[in-house]
Amino acid sequence: MDTTREAPDILSGEFSADPYSAYQIMRDDFPLIWHEGMQSYIISRYEDVSRAFRDQVFTTANYDWQLEPVHGKTILQLSGREHSLRRALVAPAFRGSELAEKFVPVIERNAAELIDGFRGAGRADLVADFATHFPINVIVDMLGLDRADHERFHRWYTSIIAFLGNLSQDPVVTADGLRTQQEFAAYMIPVIQERRAHPGDDLLSNLCQAEIDGVRMSDEDIKAFCSLLLAAGGETTDKAIASVFANLLQHPDQLAAVRADRSLIGPALAETLRYSPPVHMIMRQPAADVTLSGGTIPAGSTVTCLIGAANRDGSRYADPERFDIFRTDLDTPNAFSAAANHLAFALGRHFCVGALLARTEVDVGLNQLLDAMPDVRLDPAFRPAEQGVFTRGPASLPVLFTPGVARG
Ligand code: HEM
Repeated sequence: MDTTREAPDILSGEFSADPYSAYQIMRDDFPLIWHEGMQSYIISRYEDVSRAFRDQVFTTANYDWQLEPVHGKTILQLSGREHSLRRALVAPAFRGSELAEKFVPVIERNAAELIDGFRGAGRADLVADFATHFPINVIVDMLGLDRADHERFHRWYTSIIAFLGNLSQDPVVTADGLRTQQEFAAYMIPVIQERRAHPGDDLLSNLCQAEIDGVRMSDEDIKAFCSLLLAAGGETTDKAIASVFANLLQHPDQLAAVRADRSLIGPALAETLRYSPPVHMIMRQPAADVTLSGGTIPAGSTVTCLIGAANRDGSRYADPERFDIFRTDLDTPNAFSAAANHLAFALGRHFCVGALLARTEVDVGLNQLLDAMPDVRLDPAFRPAEQGVFTRGPASLPVLFTPGVARG
């Protein structure tokens, strides 16, 4: 241990500019930090973070204050039988067969419409023009909501994300998040009631009708789940698409390999999720005292689990700071299932419900983008930089390409 180094501060500007160097210092010398400002313990080693996701002593009670004020009570807070039941109600819509049959056309249409906005222009910002809209538009359409409201959902989603990432508790951001919660409820509850009376073939109707052991979700449960979907399925997939593209553009040989063999989109996304995950940290609250990495975390404390640090732990991945879609120590075939060995979707009972949807969206989006821009390259006037601490991804991604012909 190097005693001259200081524990990095995850709320500092230095950290947000380059968390990866700080992660290394944390893993090596400060694997368990108490952060006074955040009132939280921070863990960074693969072994500790993966244990926090699997070991049920680490509860998700932290979401009572982290998420409930903006979404209402959601599946993330539940545990035990209550959680399994809720998961069984919502999960079928996100399984492979349902996805392929019902929602791939929705995903394809939304990708094509956004690309139509710039395919003839020869330049685009893949964040502002594509990634930030694509997953939200997909969810709004999957739920069978009014497509004319895409922009309104985008605004709500931006406000919810700001609320969730508000580690320094800015009161303006808090007030905006709470206002969004009210606006969203006022919009959704009448739609849910209408959908109960007149069900269609959409995800919202499925959620209204889903029943297990005689249990159905209340209007409030469904509204909270839809609100969670905007954040959990929007922000994350937005960052995943932008990051996979940014990583490939910065590794032109790997981009060429993916262009030539589209079955490499899966490995490229899996490696992106390891190397630059959309969600860099999630929290847990142990129900009993826990000892790890030489220290004890008292029951009831908040623990910040650094996914971004654990995914680059040299004791788990060889040469962890290198982006390599061909690496053999990342279990790519299982990267989108609960058997994954990267931690970007967490592990255990709260493993991301939407992992397969995210993979499908990235597959469709990347395929269409590569087809529309055969010679895509980064705008030379631009140096890609990531932004964000809680969630993280490229702030913008200006690219140039030979303009294509608009679709007929
Ligand atoms: C690459 C994109 C995505 C990433 C990186 C991601 C990440 C995560 C993570 C880390 C969790 C676990 C949170 C925790 O345990 O505290 C999670 C859970 C969840 N995700 Fe995702 N997610 C992604 C895409 C999606 C999509 C597309 C959807 C749905 C539209 C979605 C819906 C959910 C839901 C509902 C949960 C809660 C599951 C439960 O509590 O049992 N996610 N996600």
